Amino acid sequence: MFKVRLYGDPVLRVIAKEIDPESLTDEFIKKMSETMYMDDGVGLAAAQIGISERFFMYDAGEKLNVVINPEILERSSEVELGEEGCLSIPDIFEKISRSLKIKAKYFNRQGHEEIRVLEGYEARVFQHEFDHLNGKLFIDYLSTVKRRLLKPKLDEIKRRSAEILKEMRNLSHKRN
Ligand code: NI
Repeated sequence: MFKVRLYGDPVLRVIAKEIDPESLTDEFIKKMSETMYMDDGVGLAAAQIGISERFFMYDAGEKLNVVINPEILERSSEVELGEEGCLSIPDIFEKISRSLKIKAKYFNRQGHEEIRVLEGYEARVFQHEFDHLNGKLFIDYLSTVKRRLLKPKLDEIKRRSAEILKEMRNLSHKRN
């Protein structure tokens, strides 16, 4: 299991780099998906486990999809409001507007290119995870008023985030 990085961790704000689509091992994918499922997550991006690379995984209810170096080729102008949360921002759920339909291109876990049209909930999850690759979080879409209301909760998450980083730093010192 990986440690999930929380809001306030600078790694969540980095624009991630493309990777070799064949570089992810089965063992790594297994460990990352366990991290996602354990926390009841629907999606998990590499940044959320501290890796600044362009890949994420999600399971919108059907199967585990591994998405590498994705591009969103088209987004419908028709949008839909839907509730979102994020493993990196625990216990905050807010309605966010997303394109109802998207056309995406990416490499799957076998390293094969796929072009797919996604709709509804799956399109929402994809857009949310895609944002993570560009250092963007769902709360960035909220109004200033809404964010001000959430500030106490967000500050608490930031505090926990700093603790996690400190713990990890201590661990790596011990190892060296
Ligand atoms: Ni997220």
